[in-house]
Amino acid sequence: MLTRESILEAVKAVQEPTLRKGLTDLGLIRDVVAREGSASLTVVLHPDSTERAPELERELTAALAAVGAASPHFRFRPMTEHEKAETLSKLHPEDAAGTVKEGKPAAPVKGHGAGLERNALLHPESGVEFIAIASGKGGVGKSTVTVNLAAALARKGKRVGLIDADIYGFSVPDMMGIEERPEQVGEKIMPVERFGVRVISMGFFVEDNSPIVWRGPMLGKMLRNFFAEIEWGELDYLLLDLPPGTGDVALDVHQMIPQSKEIIVTTPHATAAFVAARAGSMAIKTNHEILGVVENMAYYECSGCGKRDYVFGRGGGGKLAETLHTDLLAQFPLGAPENHPSEPDFSPSIYKADTATGEAYDRLAEAVIERCGK
Ligand SMILES: Nc1ncnc2c1ncn2[C@@H]1O[C@H](COP(=O)(O)OP(=O)(O)OP(=O)(O)O)[C@@H](O)[C@H]1O
Ligand SMILES: [Mg+2]
Repeated sequence: MLTRESILEAVKAVQEPTLRKGLTDLGLIRDVVAREGSASLTVVLHPDSTERAPELERELTAALAAVGAASPHFRFRPMTEHEKAETLSKLHPEDAAGTVKEGKPAAPVKGHGAGLERNALLHPESGVEFIAIASGKGGVGKSTVTVNLAAALARKGKRVGLIDADIYGFSVPDMMGIEERPEQVGEKIMPVERFGVRVISMGFFVEDNSPIVWRGPMLGKMLRNFFAEIEWGELDYLLLDLPPGTGDVALDVHQMIPQSKEIIVTTPHATAAFVAARAGSMAIKTNHEILGVVENMAYYECSGCGKRDYVFGRGGGGKLAETLHTDLLAQFPLGAPENHPSEPDFSPSIYKADTATGEAYDRLAEAVIERCGK
């Protein structure tokens, strides 16, 4: 049977063209998924190797065919400066100290008990744009918006991290179709990469989806670990999928990352928008800039005649944006992504780039980039 391990083993002999060492040994094969006899994976390349992606694709396809993986799916991307320094340090460990210093100080401090003030990622000058996705009530689509906005920003070439800050109700791994678990390298934990997004979720550290029974202070501690103990590398954006409402975790995030900006998600129903305004006023009170409002499940469009039905009411998003003195950034229709479990790149909640909703997420990503100015 095809597994993640057998895929990695099959491509072991394939070398990174510039560095002339095995892609697997260098840790440059990411995002590996084995499903129904096929494989999908991301290949991270040295910037000088990107033109050689087609020949690498042929080599990898042949290697995978030998273990029975039909029509594999590949994504190629160039390595970031930080990844480059790290990869070179694996090749020449003796110069490691020198090479790593070339990168920006975005890497979190290693080891246990790293103080927040020493955490480079949270430093206001780290250059990372934090965006928390919040809502007043549950089930309006925060997680859906977060994973799709993250994927759309990655499609635009941004370096994107995603923290599933819903410590009890984590859903991001399942929504993105992630089957891998984070690897530990030395004292650091590497986020799992999916659709070009580096992801961390409490779900990765829980056995068999068992419920989490921690209370109170553990929440904040866990969240702090997500910043301090994870090797994020260089990031342009770090998205946080918040739990619903204005509870402890939301408050922790506000206090921990005062520079975080926010997107408020609502449905078009007037009551939902009214409740969402509470999340918005919490952002305002804690001086978080609100980037805008996203209205999810805004309408249902008939696939036959194109007529729009406003199943959950109308106008909630616009009204909320007005209340919060911000803009309505996007309206997404009702409808689950048309992904099928047999596809190698399957994920239940990611809208593909070439669908109408996928394109609407690209436009949301553009609006976010414009507002953040980077
Ligand atoms: N536009 C949409 N069309 C159809 N279904 C949707 C849409 N957006 C979200 N959903 C579905 O609605 C449910 C709730 O969405 P999601 O989990 O993203 O909301 P949430 O606000 O993060 O919820 P929670 O408060 O529980 O964290 C999910 O089953 C999701 O697949
Ligand atoms: Mg959620």
